[in-house]
Amino acid sequence: MKVIGIAGSLRPRSNTLHYVTTGLEVIEQEGIETELISLMNKEIKPCTGCYECVEKGYCTIKGDDFAGILEKMRTAEGIILGSPVYLSSVVPQMMSLLARATFVAYWNDKFLTGKVGGPITVARRAGHNLAFSQLLLWFFINGLIVPGSTYWNVGVAGAKGARDAADDTEGIQTVTEFAKNMAKLMKKIFL
Ligand SMILES: Cc1cc2nc3c(=O)[nH]c(=O)nc-3n(C[C@H](O)[C@H](O)[C@H](O)COP(=O)(O)O)c2cc1C
Repeated sequence: MKVIGIAGSLRPRSNTLHYVTTGLEVIEQEGIETELISLMNKEIKPCTGCYECVEKGYCTIKGDDFAGILEKMRTAEGIILGSPVYLSSVVPQMMSLLARATFVAYWNDKFLTGKVGGPITVARRAGHNLAFSQLLLWFFINGLIVPGSTYWNVGVAGAKGARDAADDTEGIQTVTEFAKNMAKLMKKIFL
């Protein structure tokens, strides 16, 4: 049983990375294996809408890091998605990954269905609700099961980086409770 956490920021001192890592550490303490995937040094080209995945069962775009990440998504039982909020939205590299992953999974054996997971969004001030909803819609269209927390999994942190996120005690607490619920649910479903 494994949980992967995908952190969508391209910044080296990323707040999002800090929140996702926090969630994974809690899940690890619950005895479940975890892996952090940062998009920082990865390239994910956007979906071209060629529909070749519908016929072939895989994405035909070459020369980027998509296939390796998709394979980790396919084999994990749990997926956490963390994204900074840019202009009230999820960052483009995360949306490119999610669009392509959805189409490959959806038109094949819907391999994301039945997994457990949830979103984390991080903003300095505003726009969480839209970005958080975008990620939730991804979980729901792909048939994943999403546990709750004591609040929505949103972090409030600015440009400073990980120091900012560490100061956001309510955000860290919310992610911690979410991760505990995720581990609890996964043990009920998969063990
Ligand atoms: C291009 C850009 C757009 C942003 N848009 C928003 C926004 O709409 N709302 C907000 O509160 N913060 C916004 N921010 C701030 C980031 O969401 C915030 O600094 C976040 O902590 C960055 O996450 P990271 O450290 O993981 O990269 C924006 C930052 C950038 C660079």
